[in-house]
Amino acid sequence: MKKLLIPILLIIMLCSCSNNPKQKTAGIPNKAWWKEGVIYQIYPRSFKDSDGDGVGDLKGIIEELDYIKSLGVTMLWLNPIYASPNDDNGYDISDYRAIMKEFGTMEDFDLLLKEMHQRDLKFVMDVVVNHSSDEHEWFKQSRSSRDNPYRDYYHWWPAEKGKPNYRWSFFDEKGEAWKYDSITDAYYLHYFSQKQPDLNWENPKVRQEVYDIMKFWADKGVDGFRLDAFQFASKDTTFPALPEGYQKNIIKYYGMGPNLHSYLREMYDEVLSKYEVFAVSEGAGSTLEDAHALVDEDRKELQMAYHFESVDMVNSLEGYTLPQFKQVFTKWDTSFAEKGWISIFLSNHDAARIVSRFGNDSPEFREASAKMLNTFLLSMRGTPYIYYGDEIGMTNINFDSISQYKDIAAINGYKKALSDREDMDLFMKKLNFLSRDNGRTPMQWNPSIHAGFTTGIPWLPVNDNYKDINVANEQNNPNSILNHFKNMVKIRKENDLLIYGAYQMLDAENKDIYAFTRTLDNKKMLVLLNFTDHDSSIKLSENENIESILINNYTDFTNENGDVNLKPYQAVICELKY
Ligand code: GLC
Repeated sequence: MKKLLIPILLIIMLCSCSNNPKQKTAGIPNKAWWKEGVIYQIYPRSFKDSDGDGVGDLKGIIEELDYIKSLGVTMLWLNPIYASPNDDNGYDISDYRAIMKEFGTMEDFDLLLKEMHQRDLKFVMDVVVNHSSDEHEWFKQSRSSRDNPYRDYYHWWPAEKGKPNYRWSFFDEKGEAWKYDSITDAYYLHYFSQKQPDLNWENPKVRQEVYDIMKFWADKGVDGFRLDAFQFASKDTTFPALPEGYQKNIIKYYGMGPNLHSYLREMYDEVLSKYEVFAVSEGAGSTLEDAHALVDEDRKELQMAYHFESVDMVNSLEGYTLPQFKQVFTKWDTSFAEKGWISIFLSNHDAARIVSRFGNDSPEFREASAKMLNTFLLSMRGTPYIYYGDEIGMTNINFDSISQYKDIAAINGYKKALSDREDMDLFMKKLNFLSRDNGRTPMQWNPSIHAGFTTGIPWLPVNDNYKDINVANEQNNPNSILNHFKNMVKIRKENDLLIYGAYQMLDAENKDIYAFTRTLDNKKMLVLLNFTDHDSSIKLSENENIESILINNYTDFTNENGDVNLKPYQAVICELKY
């Protein structure tokens, strides 16, 4: 009895010690490692080229793992690395169990995973299974004859039934998702490019193939899956006519098909529940209820989703207003305060650079606004996703001629705009500001030729500003965006409050400043972010009594009895008396 008592007493003593990190979050339900991490997203084509062919590769990523580790991030999501003819840079997969030749070999992948795990970094695999490549063996078989065993792996519409009802396609130059194929006198469906035929999820064999592929990678040791375009997977295969005005809510009419949840539940039972992995869906439906139905713990489907309402705010040259920005983030936080979990992001491989789109990339304000946006991403509730290069404030490249663009969305979008007789000046201005190529230029490592990305000719030009904006310069400057980013990641990781703490927005009407508090147990923090290029002020209430400053992207901070003045793009996190 005595023998047992001593350890029990010891445990009680340890638990009541206020420094014990466990105790700080003792009351938090549903803690999870993937909620506590910071994801760093790498576009492998553009990160680091180890063999001089101008295309980034897995060995290049291995070379930079110590850099990645030094950022403090805990997980890496790589855009697709599977064999692909690259119609959409890897989002058109021709073999789900092979590595893209330009990226390396399966041995390189195994080594990458091993080296990552040795550094305690987790790997998130992109799973692209709403569609495959038309060069995948399944599709080759499927299109070869109407009675081929793989015919039902895809959606076919026999021509004798007449033209199928219109379906819209993201990348088609005519905007049409049905493509006529003369081999079998039938149309096949492609929500993305003609070379990305949609897989038929209603076919149980297709689903089993996908689960087997996921298990293949989970057995290798990947830690998470990002389900590409997954909200489109289940479809009403009668393909009824779309109602008038469907364009205004594509997700409602194209997404969250009738059987999506039962397929996700099946995927959970077959794969996710059997491994120490999490899965995040690209897209979260068209309502908050849709999003909850995807990720709430008791659903046993997915663990996380990312919604597009925030990035979609900047889809025109007019940009966004701060009250709108605050309202969107607050709405999502409030809805997920008790249940479910979401991602926090402002950029990825489908978007322009964060500092050009949401901040200010002029020489005067680039640095301050990049630090401010990174402070925001790392102080919200939800798992933060940081896109490579945003930690050093990389900017848009601003191509002005269509011949410079490489992305299928830009090239086919241009052809469609021409044939629709759109205002082409306006189209080019929008492309210049918003195109996906902006976010895909090579990583800027140092001031040497091609920014140290490659010794060959880069597949996409390096941004001209690489001599100023690069990792080497940033590492040498203690006040750089990079060092601010590292500090911010450290602060997040050291404070469960920034991960799990309750969020409350202050001064919702303030057009310049985003202010909010985060609270957990007996601790409270105040986050103050000036989203403008001018000084601005905010009045704090008596409840917001500043005790100390945790991080500040300027050297000073003006606070006179709660009258706070912030400099352009100033970002400050304070601890409050509680
Ligand atoms: C997703 C990807 C995007 C890709 C598309 C088709 O939206 O993020 O890059 O082009 O799916 O796979």
